Amino acid sequence: MSRSRMSCACLLPLVYLLLGVDGYCQYRWMRCYSNSMSLADMVFVESYFYNKLEFLVFNSTVGRYVGYSDYGKALAREKNEDEHLLPYERGSVDRLCKVNALVYKSHGMDKKIEPSVNLNLVRPVSSNQLAMLMCSAYNFYPRMIRVTWYRDGQKVTSDVSATEELADGDWYYQIHSHLEFTPKAGEKISCVVEHASFKEPREFVWDSSMPKAERNKIAIGAAGLLLGLVVCAAGLLYYRKTSRGWILARPRSTLTY
Ligand SMILES: *[C@@H]1O[C@H](CO)[C@@H](O)[C@H](O)[C@H]1NC(C)=O
Repeated sequence: MSRSRMSCACLLPLVYLLLGVDGYCQYRWMRCYSNSMSLADMVFVESYFYNKLEFLVFNSTVGRYVGYSDYGKALAREKNEDEHLLPYERGSVDRLCKVNALVYKSHGMDKKIEPSVNLNLVRPVSSNQLAMLMCSAYNFYPRMIRVTWYRDGQKVTSDVSATEELADGDWYYQIHSHLEFTPKAGEKISCVVEHASFKEPREFVWDSSMPKAERNKIAIGAAGLLLGLVVCAAGLLYYRKTSRGWILARPRSTLTY
């Protein structure tokens, strides 16, 4: 299980103790991580901080306390020798994490937000560079997502580069995947996105006929041209009408002379 694939199943309240007006802060941060619906891979982690220093941590995968400063190390040694404390801390995975996760899930808090996906040509082919497509997924939750490229139904692995899942800072994430390629006529290129919010992988096919931005530019250009033609035709009609009036008036005026 890689770290990037891990999602935080539940966040227990931080225990804060503020000392004095200078803002000294001592806190314990308990959290539970799981990456599966069954919660079988649940990990319980409890960190002790003083100001910015994390000096002691219990991680249920490790199964014991680990200290990070001299004092933290001494504390870890002491706690690890406590025959009651260690089994109790290890039991937190079931007692705290899994029990709470089940309660939260049953209250519909297992939120999944669908990504909105864009597939665009970000660089057309040129004499010295390959063309580049970018498949972007925005505003999804949880973090785990997979973006894969297909050319005519064949999975592409080379010439692909992707960013990590980027945290937007509001519990949502975004990711961008690039494909460099030489365009071939009639070829179908697509980006397939897999996410917990989708029942099945979703395919986004690149419309190679024309990128959307280009299409918009052409539509605006065509509308402008049409408007120009209408104005021009109206002007011509007006000119012809007024000039014919002048021509018709002339013989009449010559007659009167
Ligand atoms: C807990 O320990 C495991 C094993 O060392 C490690 O992979 C994981 O990242 C740790 N979790 C946290 C939140 O530090």
